[in-house]
Parts: sequence; structure tokens; C-alpha cells
Amino acid sequence: MDVFEAIHKRRSNAKIKQDAVPRAAIEKLLSAAVQAPNHYKVRPWRFAVLTGNGLNKLGDVFAASFADRQPGLPAEALDKTRALPHRSPLIIAVGVDKPCEPKVSEVENIIAVSAACQNLLLAAEAEGLAVKWRTGEWALDVKVKEFLGFAPDQHLIAFLYIGYPEVTPEPQPRPSFEDRTVWMG
Ligand SMILES: Cc1cc2nc3c(=O)[nH]c(=O)nc-3n(C[C@H](O)[C@H](O)[C@H](O)COP(=O)(O)O)c2cc1C
Repeated sequence: MDVFEAIHKRRSNAKIKQDAVPRAAIEKLLSAAVQAPNHYKVRPWRFAVLTGNGLNKLGDVFAASFADRQPGLPAEALDKTRALPHRSPLIIAVGVDKPCEPKVSEVENIIAVSAACQNLLLAAEAEGLAVKWRTGEWALDVKVKEFLGFAPDQHLIAFLYIGYPEVTPEPQPRPSFEDRTVWMG
């Protein structure tokens, strides 16, 4: 698929089948992600790949996190939360390394990892995979970060819910670049 076609066709898609994504396809996405530009070549991206029991465990951590934030929740609410990671057969959680030396800035690391995520999204589009990028309160929770192997002060910038699409949404036209651009010839 041509890169412009992938860019223009890509849209969030939360309607995802439960069919497993083959390991080779997951590796293709990760390989695309790490081609992103990054200042000082620090490779600040960290990926946690969750399938099967990994999703069950993430659900338990989500539920524990929710219970911490809102004590006294009914069991049904916690069960619903526990099921959230199963909205796709695969989640790639994406973390950002803290700068390891003074010349490296945190915001630039976040920018580089965001670029990696976009590479992954476009690669998924080319592979016929649906992706839904989610964050929410879970992404800020120290328990969730710890479970994924991230430090408490590391940014967790994405839960990429990935799988084969149940339906493929028609891309809605986007506002143009014109009112966001000044030409300085
Ligand atoms: C950093 C980031 C965090 C996001 N978090 C959520 C989220 O928590 N829940 C959600 O429904 N969508 C989330 N999204 C997806 C956006 O809502 C979506 O990309 C936006 O509506 C544009 O739609 P499109 O992806 O189809 O172009 C997130 C996107 C980004 C870039």
C-alpha cells in the first residue's frame, strides 16, 4: 500500500475481531515503529505486547486501579473493567524512557515515541489491521505502569488495541490544513 493511501485511509477502529494476530505481523508493526526519528538516537520507546493471559492480567490490574480510585464500587463495575483489555486480541502498550543525560529532553522523547506509534498505525493499515489508540486514567496509574514494567514517572502514551477489523469505517473527510498554515515565502 502506498504511504499516502495508508495515511488517508487510516482511522481509529474499535470494532475488532477476536482472531489472533500472528507473531510475524506483530513483529512487522514493531519493526515499523522503531524506524521513527529520535533525537540523539536514544530509542526512547518501550513496548509491552499483551495477548491471552497477558490481557487477563492487565484486566485485573485495571480493576484494582479502578477500585483504588473509586472505593466501594459494585462487583459488576469491576468485572466490566476487568474485561476492557479483551476489546481486542492484542494490546501493545507504549512507554517512553526518561532522559538518560542532560542534553536529552523528555518532550523530545515523547515526540519520538509518538512518531513510532504513528509508524505502527500506518503499518497496521497496510497490513489490514484495525487499531484503536486509547489512554484514559489507566495510562496514568502507577500500578498499571508497574505491571507493564514501566517506572512510575515514565509516560505511558498508548494502549494500542489491535486486531482484524469487524467492519472498516469509511474515512470521514478531515478539516484542511489551510487554516492551520501560514506560507512565509
Ligand atoms: C495520545 C492519544 C490518546 C488517545 N486516547 C484515546 C482514548 O483514551 N479513548 C478514545 O476513544 N480514543 C483515544 N484516542 C483516539 C482519538 O480519539 C482519535 O485518534 C481521534 O478521534 C481521531 O480519529 P481517527 O484516529 O479516526 O483519525 C487517542 C489518540 C491519541 C493520539
